[in-house]
Amino acid sequence: MKFVMETVELSKKFGELTAVDGISTTLEEGHIVGLIGPNGAGKSTFLNSMAGLFPPTSGKVFFEGKECTGFTPQRMCHLGLARTFQIPQPFPKMTALETVLVATLFGRHGHARENPVEYAKSLLDFVEFPLPPKTACENLNTVQLKRLDLARALGSNPKMLFLDELAAGLTESEILDMIVLTRKIRDRGITILMVEHIMKLIITVCEYLIVIQFGRKISEGRTEKVAQDPVVLEAYLGTAKKKEPEGPAPAGPEAPGSAPAASNAAEPKPAGLGGGDGHVS
Ligand SMILES: Nc1ncnc2c1ncn2[C@@H]1O[C@H](COP(=O)(O)OP(=O)(O)OP(=O)(O)O)[C@@H](O)[C@H]1O
Ligand SMILES: [Mg+2]
Repeated sequence: MKFVMETVELSKKFGELTAVDGISTTLEEGHIVGLIGPNGAGKSTFLNSMAGLFPPTSGKVFFEGKECTGFTPQRMCHLGLARTFQIPQPFPKMTALETVLVATLFGRHGHARENPVEYAKSLLDFVEFPLPPKTACENLNTVQLKRLDLARALGSNPKMLFLDELAAGLTESEILDMIVLTRKIRDRGITILMVEHIMKLIITVCEYLIVIQFGRKISEGRTEKVAQDPVVLEAYLGTAKKKEPEGPAPAGPEAPGSAPAASNAAEPKPAGLGGGDGHVS
């Protein structure tokens, strides 16, 4: 068993707000791990603290056993960590091809390609980017940008990939494509940590789950076990052991791509964990 990444008591505060509160976990090589929790739980902040976007307030981060706490995103990238963003961050004046080339040329050391342009094009094909490679980023819609973001992340030749709500806003058939694509990425030898609200995707592709609420880890382990954990059901349903109320059914699943709440104290929405096509947040 080899851990690609590990955190020890990792915390991140924004002023008085503790967005990530002492999370210790390990990410084992070859796994697809889901990071879930209600809106504002601290999922993106946890990724950002590991990836170097925000230096953690306390705690430690390790990459392949070596401490990398507080490393810049560039150093983390050169170690072998790539990520996509919840809101894609394109270079508007560059083309899709140039965007991937930036990663291919300046990503992880030792990643010398004989023909970087052809390699970048092959990654656009791999993620099924639907437009010509020379399309300007400023002309792409959100879903196209997300596919490009994925190609860019892969271009840096990562060992570990963080996906932050990559499937938000996708149609049903695009979600199925994303399930296949995520597995294909893992089959390239890349370990994946994915934040996602779309339970169908999480339950189908993730062998392991980490669940956080109010910045704290409340459960982790194999997906089938965590999905039945009363603590997790309580966090999502608020009524894990309570009798179903009479009257109208609770509100349906959240629409794909709906805006996340801004507060850490956001109430979980009434949706079932692993409930078919449901989104939970
Ligand atoms: N840069 C920041 N400055 C101040 N507060 C922040 C910042 N980023 C996040 N927060 C706060 O930290 C808490 C956790 O936010 P975070 O975005 O990590 O949650 P999340 O689990 O990713 O939520 P969502 O599912 O809505 O994306 C929230 O209360 C949020 O408002
Ligand atoms: Mg987030």
